[in-house]
Amino acid sequence: MDKIVIQGGTRLNGEIVIGGAKNSAIKLMAVCLLTDKPVFLKNMPRLRDTRSMSELLSHLGVSINLSGSDKMTLHAESLSSSTAPYELVRKMRASFNVLGPLLARSGFAKVSLPGGCAIGARPVDLHLKAMESFGAKIKLEEGYVIASAKAGLKGAEITFPFISVGATEHAMLTAVLAEGETVLNNAACEPEIVDLANCLNAMGAKVSGAGRPRISIIGVSSLKGVDYSVVPDRIEAGTYALAAATVGGTVKLSNICKDHLGALWPLIEQAGAKLTFDRTSVLIERNGTNLRAVDVDTQAYPGFPTDLQAQFMTMMCLAEGTSIIRENIFENRFMHCPELSRMGADIDVRGREAIVRGVKELKGAPVMATDLRASASLISAGMAAEGETHVGRVYHLDRGFENIEIKLRNCGANITRESE
Ligand code: EPZ
Repeated sequence: MDKIVIQGGTRLNGEIVIGGAKNSAIKLMAVCLLTDKPVFLKNMPRLRDTRSMSELLSHLGVSINLSGSDKMTLHAESLSSSTAPYELVRKMRASFNVLGPLLARSGFAKVSLPGGCAIGARPVDLHLKAMESFGAKIKLEEGYVIASAKAGLKGAEITFPFISVGATEHAMLTAVLAEGETVLNNAACEPEIVDLANCLNAMGAKVSGAGRPRISIIGVSSLKGVDYSVVPDRIEAGTYALAAATVGGTVKLSNICKDHLGALWPLIEQAGAKLTFDRTSVLIERNGTNLRAVDVDTQAYPGFPTDLQAQFMTMMCLAEGTSIIRENIFENRFMHCPELSRMGADIDVRGREAIVRGVKELKGAPVMATDLRASASLISAGMAAEGETHVGRVYHLDRGFENIEIKLRNCGANITRESE
């Protein structure tokens, strides 16, 4: 297995081009199941998660072609299976979202339950309730959800008891071909939801209100093919912005949507970095100023994203003062704390809160990546630390960051990938 080896202490200077959003791309890939025409996606990141989704879709009978560095054509002319097996679903939870599109297309789906994961239990009860509201019959058998809708799916009014990105997307993917109107109340508002709605609308769907808590969908009888470009990855952008602020230096991030990180920018500035925005880029500078402690509280969009909590914490480990970081979305997303502590950070976890007392310096150490975003936080810590850091279990990293070590090396980081 590979590990990332970092010699710390080098500032970051250069430019990083941000790719397409992983968390949008994998849902956009599922859209192909809703039409027998080709779906052409551009600005597609090449990641382990997009490969896992490709494997699952190929298993279902979708033909997939990659072209250039960032293009993918998916064609589900006919489906050869309506079963998503455990071996393929367990690799990536988001693949559970093929259930609704399979139901809409074939009236039947058998999809493995995804199970828990390192950051929390992550049940799918809201997804299943939504499917039932559309008239599907649901049975659970031997770890599989067996869903049928022989008489077709019917639009429904669904009020989510709390915000779920995945359940909102899943309900949208299912409702576009259901008969009549669907209304989703308390829907997630993330940019990835808007991206999905834009793609579906370009295929002839009638989705309105995406990006607001009430989404309305008028079902149509069929969808056409599409040529669509994936939205830039706000989490990749936020990760590099935080890395630059943590390590110090001057980094330009291009191909970003500034508005998608409205909750992050003021906090980076309060922490001591200077930001200069252009239409689709941002320059992050921290040369000489010390980092200052800032509190943060993760929330659904437009709040501070849970997917940047670990990276923000790394920055706070080196700030003057004490920062309180509260994780509201997942119950177990502080596993990077003991790893950061091994590098000399002073962090006290009390339930949903981490109390981070800034230290003068971090020291390189062997550490273990515990999930995708935590891996990035450890790389940032390694670049800011004195000495050598080894980050193990980097397969997490490869799920969601394309060419991370190349992008950082181009900015002067001393970082390599080695086989263990
Ligand atoms: C998406 O996960 C993202 N994943 C996550 O990114 C992200 O952290 C999360 O949204 C929140 O922004 C993808 O888009 C592939 P949720 P998702 O449903 O959709 C609970 C990353 O690192 N819940 O909004 O699974 C759930 O357990 C990943 O890229 C239920 O209880 O998140 C969680 O506590 C990690 N029942 C909360 O809701 C359900 O049926 C929010 O989860 C569904 C969710």
